[in-house]
Order: sequence, then C-alpha cells, then structure tokens
Amino acid sequence: MKALVLSGGAGTRLRPFSYSMPKQLVPIANKPVLAHVLQNIKNLGVREIGVIVGDWAPEIADVMGDGAQCGTRVTYIRQDHPRGLAHCVEIARDFLGDDDFLMYLGDNMLPDGITSIAEEFAANRPTAQVVVHKVPDPRAFGVVELDADGKVERLVEKPQQPRSDLALIGVYFFTPAIHEAVAAIEPSARGELEITDAIQWLVANGADVRASEYDGYWKDTGNVDDVLECNRHLLDRLGAHLAGDVDDASEVDDQVVIGAGARIVRSRIHGPVIVGENTVVEDCEIGPYTSIGRDCVLRASAVSDSIVLDRAQISRVQGLRSSLIGRDATVGTGDWTAPHHRLVVGDFTRVEVAA
Ligand code: DAU
Repeated sequence: MKALVLSGGAGTRLRPFSYSMPKQLVPIANKPVLAHVLQNIKNLGVREIGVIVGDWAPEIADVMGDGAQCGTRVTYIRQDHPRGLAHCVEIARDFLGDDDFLMYLGDNMLPDGITSIAEEFAANRPTAQVVVHKVPDPRAFGVVELDADGKVERLVEKPQQPRSDLALIGVYFFTPAIHEAVAAIEPSARGELEITDAIQWLVANGADVRASEYDGYWKDTGNVDDVLECNRHLLDRLGAHLAGDVDDASEVDDQVVIGAGARIVRSRIHGPVIVGENTVVEDCEIGPYTSIGRDCVLRASAVSDSIVLDRAQISRVQGLRSSLIGRDATVGTGDWTAPHHRLVVGDFTRVEVAA
C-alpha cells in the first residue's frame, strides 16, 4: 500500500497567506497541516508517500524534506497546473505502479485517525472505498448517496441540491482499477478532472465501491476560521511540557507547552497554549487556545484564540483575539500617543480595529 497526498492547488480562500505560502504549510498547534497528514498516514503503517506539488514545490520540499522527520519516504510529483484531483492520480501513475493506495487531500485534518477504515479496506478490498462524514450543508463537497445495503449508489461533486448529507472528506482508498476510470472521464464544468467522476464511473460500471463513515473530528482547513477552529481542537489535547524558561513572576497553567530557548517573563499563560522555540513573551496575557511559532517577540500584549506564525512581533496590543498573524509580521501600537492607526497591509488582508 502506498499513499498519494495532494498538495498542489491555489488556496485562494486563505488569502493573504496563500500569497506567500501554500495552505498545506499553515501551522496548526505549531505543526504544518501537511506534517499532521503525513503523521496520520504513517500511523497506518504506510511509509511510501507521493506528494503532488504545484508552484509551491520548493517551499514544501524545504519544510517536509524527504519525509524522514515524519517517519515516511516522500517522492514529490510536480503538477503544472491544478487540473483536478483525478489528474493528480494520472500524473502519479509511475509512482503508484499497480499497488493499492490511499489518497489524502493535503489540507484535510482527521486527527482522530483512520486506522479502522484502513483495516476495513484491507479486509474487504472493494474496488474503491471513500470516507464520508455527515455535514449540515454538503453543497461545497462531493456528495455520496448510498443504497439500503450501504453500497455507494451515486457520487456528485458539489451538487446544488444534495440528495444526502454525506460529504466526501478527502480520504480515499483505491485498487489499481481507478486508473482505468481516470483515463475514461472528461474534465468537469469547472475544467477539472474530478476524482468524484472517476469513482462514479466505477459505480456505473458495476464495481464494488463502499463508503465508511468517519465519526471523529474533521476539518478542511481551507479558510481562516476553519484553521482557528482546528487549532482549538488540537490544543484541547495538548499535554504540558516546559522546555523553555519561565520566570518567578509568571503564571503558567497545566496545558501549556513552552519550546526550548523560549522565555516567559512577567506573563500569565492560560492553557491550552503552545509557544515555539526561542520566542520571548514579556508582560503578556496569552491564551487560551493560542499557538505561537518560533522566534517571535510578544510584549505588553494580550492574545487569545489565535495563531502567530514564526518570527512575528506583537507589542502593546490588548484584546487580540481570533487572529492569524503571518510570518515576520509586526503588530503594534507604534507611537501610542498619536490619535490615529497606521496600517501597512497586503492585498486581501483583513484588519478589524476597535473603535
Ligand atoms: O475537502 C473535501 C473535498 O475536497 C471533497 O468533498 C470534494 O469532493 C473534493 O473535490 C475536494 O474539493 P475541494 O474543492 O475542496 O478541493 P480543493 O481544490 O481544495 O483541493 C483539495 C486538495 O487537493 C488541496 O490540498 C489542493 C490539492 N489539489 C487540488 C487540485 C484541484 C491538487 O494537488 N491538485 C489539483 O489539481
């Protein structure tokens, strides 16, 4: 069994972040989404992973390397343009050979793991097995209809009038029969080769296609609110580990991780909170539900329910909440005697300033 992880695509819903980094590298609980994905695959005992990459190939390779840090072996497969999920299977043909494989969308988080679903696939070995989850509004997803015996009867990509509430959630198990299906389909109305159409082709040709319902926590991390929600969820499981320095004037709750070389000075840390290596937090109130990257400097500020990426600096800002602060960003009150705000923000940035 191999795995194919899809990390190409444009990620426009995560602008402005997607101008400077691929969405799969956005950190959640201080670890890129893609690292969570590889870890999850490794937990199934699958080591050989093909990773589809687009224009962000160098940045992804820089962070993930050869996959060894996640206990895996990664082969990068370059996609020239986001031509669809089934196109990814087509260009990975040589890598996949005639092996069964697991396809995993590189921006989907399933932290409760998919071990039992993988075991089901191995035991029954249907032609294909999709993973579904009940969602309140399935119109943004591939939607699956099942017959009375639980066999997949129909799959439709982003239907306007969904006939079921079962959404495809970015994990698929395939036998090599999928390659014939991928070769048989045409691009959809949005110009992409849809994996949903390829699986529907298998169903229409009488193949045994099954669905397993995942009832754990799932998130497609396509936009800022979903990234923050997923961060809260992962931090809820955080243990405690204080590798850095906490001075006597600071108070730190149980569910707090402080990275090596970090310094907490005269501050109150309400867990769950994770602070990256070599970050300095001085005279601050941090948390709950806050992930701060490495080499950041936070001074005289209050930050909760937020993600602060590496090397960001925050000074003299109170009440910062539900925020995503990018790498090397500077947030501060500047000249605090001046009766105005000064903003230097990039395209599609969102700034909400209290009156
Ligand atoms: O999140 C689950 C949904 O993912 C499913 O319900 C849909 O059936 C499936 O089509 C997909 O829909 P999205 O529109 O959300 O897919 P997105 O364009 O976000 O791409 C998913 C991942 O695959 C993302 O990590 C980018 C990567 N990708 C996407 C395309 C179109 C590629 O690597 N290459 C591509 O050509």
